[in-house]
Amino acid sequence: MQYMVEASGLVKTYKRPDGTEIEAVKGISLNIQKGEIFSLLGPNGAGKTTTISMISGLIKPSKGDAKIGGYSITKEAIAAKRLMGVVPQEIALYPELSARRNLEFFGQLYGLNGKELGKRVDEVLEFIDLSDRQKDRVDTFSGGMKRRVNIGVGLLHRPQLVYMDEPTVGIDPQSRRRILDTVFKLRDEYNMTVLYTTHLMEEAQELSNRVAIIDHGQIIALGTQGELTQQVGEEDRLLFKVGTQTIADALLKNVETTVESVTRALYDAPSQTTDNGGETIPGMITVFAKRGRKALPHVIRVLNEADIEISSVEVREPDLEAVFLHLTGRALRD
Ligand SMILES: Nc1ncnc2c1ncn2[C@@H]1O[C@H](COP(=O)(O)OP(=O)(O)OP(=O)(O)O)[C@@H](O)[C@H]1O
Ligand SMILES: [Mg+2]
Repeated sequence: MQYMVEASGLVKTYKRPDGTEIEAVKGISLNIQKGEIFSLLGPNGAGKTTTISMISGLIKPSKGDAKIGGYSITKEAIAAKRLMGVVPQEIALYPELSARRNLEFFGQLYGLNGKELGKRVDEVLEFIDLSDRQKDRVDTFSGGMKRRVNIGVGLLHRPQLVYMDEPTVGIDPQSRRRILDTVFKLRDEYNMTVLYTTHLMEEAQELSNRVAIIDHGQIIALGTQGELTQQVGEEDRLLFKVGTQTIADALLKNVETTVESVTRALYDAPSQTTDNGGETIPGMITVFAKRGRKALPHVIRVLNEADIEISSVEVREPDLEAVFLHLTGRALRD
């Protein structure tokens, strides 16, 4: 089968102003199938934007290449770029122009004009659901609306492949919902391929056919959610918020040995205390267990017997957060 994107051995080395070098991307290879939503998931600074910028021909790889619909982005850039639409992380619009004028302007850059341009602009306004606000200046729009115009610009020339770089950052939950729905619509109704980047596990989880987890410029895991979570085994995590007590190792050992399906129990001490009205930040016990829900009452009993005050309980099935934790020893959220 022919892939929509075939990236192989991408490396990017940036020069800092002081002359030292930083290898932001250290050899990334990935294939994206036609019609799939593929996510790059990774923390701030992982190399997501750098990767997308190389695949979209915005910056030149230090090493490696990417093929878009079979065309090399370094050697056949014009043919490759014709297939793709790019929605950049930073909003790139003219604030003093209306939504419609912005779309017309960018459409002309793509070589559209006359009736065809008008038709495409109408289509895109409809798609991003801003037909009724098309005459308003963009600087009167909410963050979510600006994001939608930004997405619209990337769709004007009817690309087969769309890159979206963290399109939901800094907007309210309702606007985010609309953008996620837009991504599904691109795939399901327009048969487009989407490369989506995010640092939010929940988004990658909800949207993607496949996910590449990226950290320090490298892919550390790639696959469907099921394939990725299998790497961490079948274990659920039981999360207990426990007030401000310090938990003794002996208690954690007790949880591990007395509850059958429990493999490990960890305690995170409060990292800081605040003077905020005497409020302190609670500690957290994480218990790994084969069948979390079944183990839960037994774990609670052990904690109760030790007089541990539990303020909340949560059962998490294996998710991408757990995969990241497993592979890096760090939490995905900062
Ligand atoms: N133009 C540049 N010059 C020097 N260093 C850069 C440049 N662009 C990015 N970097 C560095 O490369 C690394 C990767 O950055 P990149 O923007 O690709 O990460 P990201 O995953 O997109 O992060 P974020 O989630 O914050 O958008 C970072 O350490 C960043 O500081
Ligand atoms: Mg970025």
